[in-house]
Amino acid sequence: MMTFNEKHNSIQGAKELDNQDEFYNTRNEFHFPLTENGEKCLYFTGHSLGLMPKNAEAYIQEELNAWKAFGVEGHFKGKHPWMPYHEFLTEKMAKVVGGKPSEVVVMNSLTVNLHLMMVSFYRPTQSRYKILIENTTFPSDKYAVDSQARFHGFDPKEAIVQLQPSDGKMTLTDDELVSQIKSHGDSLALVMLGNCNYLSGQCFDFEKVVAAAKSVGAMVGFNLAHGAGNLKLDLHKHEADFAVWCTYKYLNSGPGGLAGAFVHEKHHKDPKMPRFEGWWGTKKETRFKMKPEFESMDSVESWQLSNPPIFQLAAIRASLDHYDSVGMDNLRAKGDNLTGYLEWLLKENCGNKIEIVTPPYVEGKQTRGSMLCVRVKGDAKNVEEKLKEAGAIVDFREPDILRMAPIPLYNSFEDCFELVKVIGSAV
Ligand SMILES: Cc1ncc(COP(=O)(O)O)c(C=O)c1O
Repeated sequence: MMTFNEKHNSIQGAKELDNQDEFYNTRNEFHFPLTENGEKCLYFTGHSLGLMPKNAEAYIQEELNAWKAFGVEGHFKGKHPWMPYHEFLTEKMAKVVGGKPSEVVVMNSLTVNLHLMMVSFYRPTQSRYKILIENTTFPSDKYAVDSQARFHGFDPKEAIVQLQPSDGKMTLTDDELVSQIKSHGDSLALVMLGNCNYLSGQCFDFEKVVAAAKSVGAMVGFNLAHGAGNLKLDLHKHEADFAVWCTYKYLNSGPGGLAGAFVHEKHHKDPKMPRFEGWWGTKKETRFKMKPEFESMDSVESWQLSNPPIFQLAAIRASLDHYDSVGMDNLRAKGDNLTGYLEWLLKENCGNKIEIVTPPYVEGKQTRGSMLCVRVKGDAKNVEEKLKEAGAIVDFREPDILRMAPIPLYNSFEDCFELVKVIGSAV
């Protein structure tokens, strides 16, 4: 990661960093919301809803045109027929998460996929029934695991266990995490972690989590709502059993965009694995023959239920083109520089008014992505209001957390400098 010095604590310094950035111009491929004065907002909520890629309009329009021209025949005709449309995304999405194409599919929404995966990967017995989640789990994920435990006849108070950081901290070390997984031993059925964590921005070590889960005989899955399109991922190599993610944050697919799912290939042909099934999961060759028996495709595609919304898939296809042309290695490298710069500016200019919650960057390890969470001392809500007035879009979580995502595809060093200027005067 770059290092910064006094000269970077100025608008000229920020612009110099932008001049050295070979991916600076990708920001021109995105629509920024404008302030009342017609200027680009300082948009730092890509961890919540990413900006609209300019090519999304044309990609969606192409499918509207196909509908207009072909009606139902659009399933088989046109440049991108709808019957195999999800396949046009598979290879690029597989690269984003480090899976094989047969392990990755775009379908449904995130919480739906999480439940579908738990149908297959949470199969509790009387002695092995616990699910380990983070201490600060996104509420929907907690509702999902609680309801799965109840569905299987367990009391969530006993079946759902949360990580316990020491001394009231929000994050915990990899060693603490491993020792907590091991301490539950063979009572653990599933380890299911959000990576990065949605509130702290902490990224757990995938390899260590998987190895610890396997050592106690548990399944392991990741919720990559804040990981996909953000972290450098290697799901196949790290042998996650499953993963799910949404695409409307770092993957810029638009509000309510479809989600992704990964199932490791070692599970594709397991005849004992339970699964909820629908017609989009049966063999493609015979799908429209309407046979009463389901025929597995021996790939993650067999977890699909329904024919997917094509306009939504078109929007993700548009965004994936940008990820593919820049590549996740470059995005992560720029994301580390932007996040490091934002952190350095915050410490330099308002270090005594905030506390940085997200773990620090560590060379050679992935301890965080492009998200910085800070605790604001004093009236945090008022800070959020002041930021809004100044045209800076960040987000606030009760009681005192500000979350900011410097997105390598479209944020600049100058954006970071301007944001910290506003934060400095607001705190
Ligand atoms: C960590 C996490 N889990 C689950 C969800 C819920 O996603 P969805 O509404 O797409 O099911 C979100 C959405 O913000 C999230 O950030």
